[in-house]
Amino acid sequence: MTITVLDDSGAVAAALAERVASALRDKPDAVLGLASGRTPVDGYAEMQRLHAAGQMDWSRASTFNLDEFAGISGDHPGSFRTFMEEHLFNGVNLRPERVHFLNGAAGDLDAECEHYESAIAAAGGIDLQLLGIGSNGHIGFNEPGDDLPLRTHRVTLMESTRRGNAALFGNDPRKVPTEALSMGIGTILHARRIVLVATGEKKAECIRQTINGRITTRVPASLLQVHTDVELLLDREAASKIR
Ligand code: GLP
Repeated sequence: MTITVLDDSGAVAAALAERVASALRDKPDAVLGLASGRTPVDGYAEMQRLHAAGQMDWSRASTFNLDEFAGISGDHPGSFRTFMEEHLFNGVNLRPERVHFLNGAAGDLDAECEHYESAIAAAGGIDLQLLGIGSNGHIGFNEPGDDLPLRTHRVTLMESTRRGNAALFGNDPRKVPTEALSMGIGTILHARRIVLVATGEKKAECIRQTINGRITTRVPASLLQVHTDVELLLDREAASKIR
């Protein structure tokens, strides 16, 4: 693991945007895995700014988002798709047919998950996967447990995760769907390169466990230790408990 500690969340956002911009410069048709959550938002804003300045061309890129709530459609105001439209897609020149999202409103959710895996494989696999981290150590919606599903799957969300996502649903955790679809831990670990962003003191403990703890399904992000090309972009607060 490469651990990059930066002064503040603004520097983390700039570094995240720079990692994606350089990936697109090296490989204009790169396949990007994208994450929602508050942490990458400023990085996405910086990517929009770079695009507006003519320094980032998304015209040949493809994207696959990590996860989506089940039981709501992509145009629901609380969906991760709406979130991505607002924070990234509406400000860059991605081709709509190259934007891939799990459809939480699909009639057969298991088939939807299988279809997503096939679509990632058909695109040639993910070149660069961006990740945030839940304060319980989850990545995507891979929640801590006795085991972790390998591939894209349905997941029952933990109460803490529903509270953590309440901002998308009028700050009411009861309105957050109880189920979601998520890339599996194997889907994530198959990405050629992974960049995880974490900021703030609330993430310090899960970051310590991710880096210094043993590999355990109780801290899904600890599985990243087995990957050969992972970078953690952290601000000082998130890095404050690392040994
Ligand atoms: C959600 C997403 C995760 C994200 C996490 C952390 O649960 N499914 O992919 O990493 O939130 O979000 P935040 O960055 O807002 O702390």
